[in-house]
Amino acid sequence: MSNEAVHLDRARFEADPVDPRRMPPDDAAGMQGHIIFGDNLAYLRTMPGASIDLIYIDPPFNTGRVQARKQLRTVRDDSSPDRIGFKGNGYRTEVLGEKAFDDTFEDFTSFIVPRLEEAHRVLKPTGSLFLHIDYREVHYCKVYLDQIFGRASFINEIIWAYDYGARSRRRWSAKHDNILWYAKDPDEYTFNFDDIDRIPYMAPSLVGPEKAARGKTPTDTWWHTIVSPTGREKTGYPTQKPLGVVERIVRLHSREGDTVLDFFAGSGTIGEACAKLRRNFILVDNNPEAIEVMKRRLAKFRPAIVNMPQPTKKPVSSVQSPGHVHVLAAAVWEYEDAALPRLRGPKKDLDMVRALFSASSTLGVYQDKQIQTLANPTVEELRSAVVKYAMDRSAKGDILIFYFSGHGSVLANNEFGLCLKDTKIRPDGGGCLPLSVLSFDDIIRTLTAADVHPVFIIDACFSGKAGQNEQNKVVEAMHDDVHRVAASSYGLLCACYGEALAHDTDDGGAFTKALYEVASAGLADDTHRQKPHLQLSDFSRPIQQRLTTTGFPLPKLYLGPDLPEFPLVRNAGFQPRTETLMAYHRQTLELLWDGGKDRTVSLTEILRKLGQSAYGNHSKLSLGPWDLVEDGEDTKHRRLTKRGRLFVAGKLKVPETIEKGAKGEWRPADHAREVGLADIGGARNSRKPSRSPRR
Ligand SMILES: C[S@@+](CC[C@H](N)C(=O)[O-])C[C@H]1O[C@@H](n2cnc3c(N)ncnc32)[C@H](O)[C@@H]1O
Repeated sequence: MSNEAVHLDRARFEADPVDPRRMPPDDAAGMQGHIIFGDNLAYLRTMPGASIDLIYIDPPFNTGRVQARKQLRTVRDDSSPDRIGFKGNGYRTEVLGEKAFDDTFEDFTSFIVPRLEEAHRVLKPTGSLFLHIDYREVHYCKVYLDQIFGRASFINEIIWAYDYGARSRRRWSAKHDNILWYAKDPDEYTFNFDDIDRIPYMAPSLVGPEKAARGKTPTDTWWHTIVSPTGREKTGYPTQKPLGVVERIVRLHSREGDTVLDFFAGSGTIGEACAKLRRNFILVDNNPEAIEVMKRRLAKFRPAIVNMPQPTKKPVSSVQSPGHVHVLAAAVWEYEDAALPRLRGPKKDLDMVRALFSASSTLGVYQDKQIQTLANPTVEELRSAVVKYAMDRSAKGDILIFYFSGHGSVLANNEFGLCLKDTKIRPDGGGCLPLSVLSFDDIIRTLTAADVHPVFIIDACFSGKAGQNEQNKVVEAMHDDVHRVAASSYGLLCACYGEALAHDTDDGGAFTKALYEVASAGLADDTHRQKPHLQLSDFSRPIQQRLTTTGFPLPKLYLGPDLPEFPLVRNAGFQPRTETLMAYHRQTLELLWDGGKDRTVSLTEILRKLGQSAYGNHSKLSLGPWDLVEDGEDTKHRRLTKRGRLFVAGKLKVPETIEKGAKGEWRPADHAREVGLADIGGARNSRKPSRSPRR
């Protein structure tokens, strides 16, 4: 593979010191193979767009088995491993989200869709994707792929039929897999028909000896045995696919010297096919055993082994630090050059953006001094605002939400700029003069040079002929620009996607409106009900759903994996369930403490001495984060726990307020203060518990 094609960002990866070799040029005509150990989404996000000729993927099927539903992540951990891999390395398995058990389908969707979107992005214009799946998910995947690639890009559904294993007596035994073929451009893709392998005629006597000897070309149904459990091809990796099937895809759909990517690589079947057929390969898997199998299987081709760093832990969202976030919002609806059509929506957009972010509204979390809005700025005004923000900052790693609504323009191949009030159109009406627009690339470079994580929200229609024709590429190019310059700490929300343009209406751009409406309604599903603030990632799906149901194009939302989480807006759907220590809690504790005698008290006594309300509430003192009281000899008696005794003795503090999390667990509420007994109920005295408060 050419080095330009893959652009592995060496600084971000660590080559395996044990095996840093490459395929030697005389073996493989300068071809290269890479085996990447890490999560494929994180890896895909590091790849430049339009760099891969062929993608074949065989993701784990959504089999519906309980264990398959677990989202597991294996991390290298020599200190407390739960399994030992090759070379004695320790690995710990982390379960990511048990709630996912409830709904496997939802899980699969949110797992596969972002990966398919990235696959589309990294494919070259003439590239193809082959998705190997089975009957359980194929119809869903086809719908996702129709949305991502466009229906016209669907070329074939290949049925790989085999005949092996047990048969059902209750239904037709399922003995096939489905392989969906999508071409990025349905009019121009690689299909080396002349290299097709021929298969025997079913009735050779009917076609004559010459034809019978040559055989016929296969159709979209491929009969091929599975990998024999006892044959030489077998690597021992459980889901290994037959080389014959995979090799046909590589031979027919790529050329010598092309780069083929498999980001669910398993045992590396694609790598073997590529090495035989002189294609470069990139194989990604997050399972250390798959990596070891691939290393062994492909050793003679000397691939480079690359370990992706473990994802950096994202800083936890904190409402205490919205001070690190600033908003610069520009909207342009008036243009000096009559050739640029006036717009109706951006004015309204600016109002919505103010309401979205300003703490004085019901939605926002940022103070006015953190928000700058510019109505109809000139190029110089917007440029100066960006530079001033970059120069005035004191902290590193701040976040700037850069919002723009108005015309955008394609400046050159894959270059994009924002049209401001004084932007000029070329005299012949053919697009903008580049120096009269603000280049998107310049904004990103300025922000990242100042150590800012940029978050771009662009609600722009792309003016000019090039923009209209190259719609997809503009958005992809913007992603690539941010990606290249801001590494993986960025956000990009873009109004345009697919073939449709952004829409200009009196009540604002469709995208800004969707963002505003989703924020105003809040998210009250199980996951979000308990989240007082929403983050960018919370918005992705609801916005897409809203835009789809209102008939507008899907927007694009990219979030770099290292973008720190931050509260974007308040969640209007937040339904807190909290408990706060009250005066009757203090009285209950004092009753149980009994001035140091520490006794078990019946519920009847609590009720009699502290009143009805105390009866209903004293049991809250047993909740996890507090854990101050427990049952006595039976559930009708109560006594202090060990923690309870420490607390009453003034040796322990607990969160004043606790809240019920999305999974029903009790935890300290955000920013709850730690209190001692004397602070409960707002009391700030240092009164020691009396021997018997109400005797
Ligand atoms: C069905 S197997 C692929 C088998 C492969 N086609 C072969 O012939 O051996 C799917 C692979 O995807 C890998 N995988 C699953 N989730 C992944 C992720 N998020 N990142 C990288 N690899 C992943 C699994 O470890 C597994 O090896």
